[in-house]
Amino acid sequence: MFLRRQDSRQEEDFARPQDIMAPLIQQIGRLAVRTFKRDSQHTPVTFNSLYDQLYSLVNRITPEELNLDVKLLTDRGPYDASRDGAPVTYMQLYEDNDVTICVFILKRGVRLPLHDHPGMFGILKVIHGVVSVQSYSHFTSESLDSKLQSLLNAKTLNGVFPATKHPKVKISTSDPACRLSPDTQNMHEIFSEDGPAAFLDILSPPYGTDKRLGIERDCHYYQELEPFRVSSAPSNDMTLLISIPSPSDFWCDQADYEGPVIDSGPGEQDQS
Ligand SMILES: [Fe+2]
Repeated sequence: MFLRRQDSRQEEDFARPQDIMAPLIQQIGRLAVRTFKRDSQHTPVTFNSLYDQLYSLVNRITPEELNLDVKLLTDRGPYDASRDGAPVTYMQLYEDNDVTICVFILKRGVRLPLHDHPGMFGILKVIHGVVSVQSYSHFTSESLDSKLQSLLNAKTLNGVFPATKHPKVKISTSDPACRLSPDTQNMHEIFSEDGPAAFLDILSPPYGTDKRLGIERDCHYYQELEPFRVSSAPSNDMTLLISIPSPSDFWCDQADYEGPVIDSGPGEQDQS
């Protein structure tokens, strides 16, 4: 399907002919670069159209498209740190100033601890196994009454903030990708269910040094405060999260990506 740009720039098909013939992961990479390029002057309509097309392409990806080593997906039973090494394997496929494309591989019975994606968009597609995802959104302070606001402002609750807890969802390879945005479901904890699991992650902007904004975009870890019962809580879905150091039982090793090379595509300047 061809979509047309809605802005006044040179008219161009979203799915460019040179990309249609490329391997799927290259199409995804090139479209992700175009979608999330921050100096592109996209109108919101153009961004949404590119994003929707990217989302539908991502929903077709498989481990075979990535030439993923099946050994990385071997089920060796419940995770044992002394035998298995890192609980999570990170594989970077592509990164420039505006977008990261990577794969996370979780061994049986492990989790990516509750973490955030500051100011970021994300698309998460399970490509092997099953994961459960517990997402949270930042709670807007306007929704809090004065009693709860003063409780949160107390020094004893430093680093604590309210969040909306969304229903936990189980996602397999046949399910569409999860999405997060700066305002919605921006924090999550991800568990492997019933065996090893892997997912493709597209994140924009990337973590780390943001040269455009001159800031460090760090990943922060959180824990839910339980039990949390405040009579003035404005909603049953509301909970409190507290900032914590990176959990000591979580770390990643790295694996090389051996699939089709991802670049920004013909006619695009690679910023990496
Ligand atoms: Fe994440």
